[in-house]
Amino acid sequence: MATQIQYDRLGDPDVLEVAAVPDPVAPEGGVVVAVRAAGVNPIDGKLRSGSRPSAPITAPRVPGSDAAGVVVAVGPGVDNWAPGDHVVVRGAHGAYTTHLVAPASHLVRKPAAVTWEQAAAIGVPVGTAHQALVSLGVGPGITLLVHGGSGSVGRAAIQLARRMGATVVATASPANHERLRELGAIPVAYGPGLLDRLRAAAPDGYDLILDAIGSDEALEASFALVDDRSRIGTIVVGPRAEELGIRAWGGGNPVPMTADELRLRDEAYALALDLIADGAFEVDIARTFPLAEAAEAARLVESGHPGGKVILLP
Ligand SMILES: NC(=O)c1ccc[n+]([C@@H]2O[C@H](COP(=O)([O-])OP(=O)(O)OC[C@H]3O[C@@H](n4cnc5c(N)ncnc54)[C@H](OP(=O)(O)O)[C@@H]3O)[C@@H](O)[C@H]2O)c1
Repeated sequence: MATQIQYDRLGDPDVLEVAAVPDPVAPEGGVVVAVRAAGVNPIDGKLRSGSRPSAPITAPRVPGSDAAGVVVAVGPGVDNWAPGDHVVVRGAHGAYTTHLVAPASHLVRKPAAVTWEQAAAIGVPVGTAHQALVSLGVGPGITLLVHGGSGSVGRAAIQLARRMGATVVATASPANHERLRELGAIPVAYGPGLLDRLRAAAPDGYDLILDAIGSDEALEASFALVDDRSRIGTIVVGPRAEELGIRAWGGGNPVPMTADELRLRDEAYALALDLIADGAFEVDIARTFPLAEAAEAARLVESGHPGGKVILLP
């Protein structure tokens, strides 16, 4: 039997339950992956609570879209993967499980130098950061502001933007400032007085802004710092993007991402895995939980201050 975390009604983390289900069978063109680590992302909780609308629940829903593990079965027509292969699953459906079915085309090989926790931490956060930075046009000489620099997306964005040659100012609670400095950013505390502190941190101004928070405070400061709103991109307040005149990728944006944007998200897996294996990119794991403690893991992420990536270990 396999074990999965599921819910059959919207609500707080208490609706998550542990369920035993039959071992899945590898379908045509697909594989079964024994999950070693699954990333917990804020979107998992938004969908579960209903704060992000989704289709009605007609069968138990298994959360999670970031998983890494070992291929244990391959279906007909799969000739490039074999049992024993260590993989990361791109865009997993239902990652909070011991046994995950995935299309073979969604597998990325995991280098031995990358841990299971690291491998499960990159999909959504690094994919989003890489795509947003490229879409914004970050490059050498750019001064970039990241709202939410201590989140998993923010930490990835800081490191990738520094590699692209940008100067990065990033907002976070003071307790996270030292870490953001180590990652290459100039940290600034959010809260009252934010705009003055942001102006002081970059006296020549900002070229581009990545909003990974979506608060009124972050948006208002952004509008005061940059006249051309196409230089501001959000990953959180997609539904308001058109009215505000800013760019948005996902985050509830009714405009779907373009094929190029989706390709950027996909290519981030190999990019991040290679950088991590080379010791050139860091993933901060805040805490790991056994799969059965998914509700506790969800509470930590939904506190808004997880302090890094939260990972389930099936
Ligand atoms: N559109 C997309 O495709 C996409 C993809 C990934 C994520 N997202 C969204 O992006 C957001 C960040 O995701 P994540 O995984 O990076 O989150 P995370 O790792 O859980 O981090 C949350 C961050 O929010 C900061 N924060 C909390 N309250 C704040 C406030 N009032 N003002 C400013 N910052 C505050 C925290 O900073 P401190 O702990 O330092 O206080 C923390 O760094 C989430 O809303 C997520 O759903 C969207």
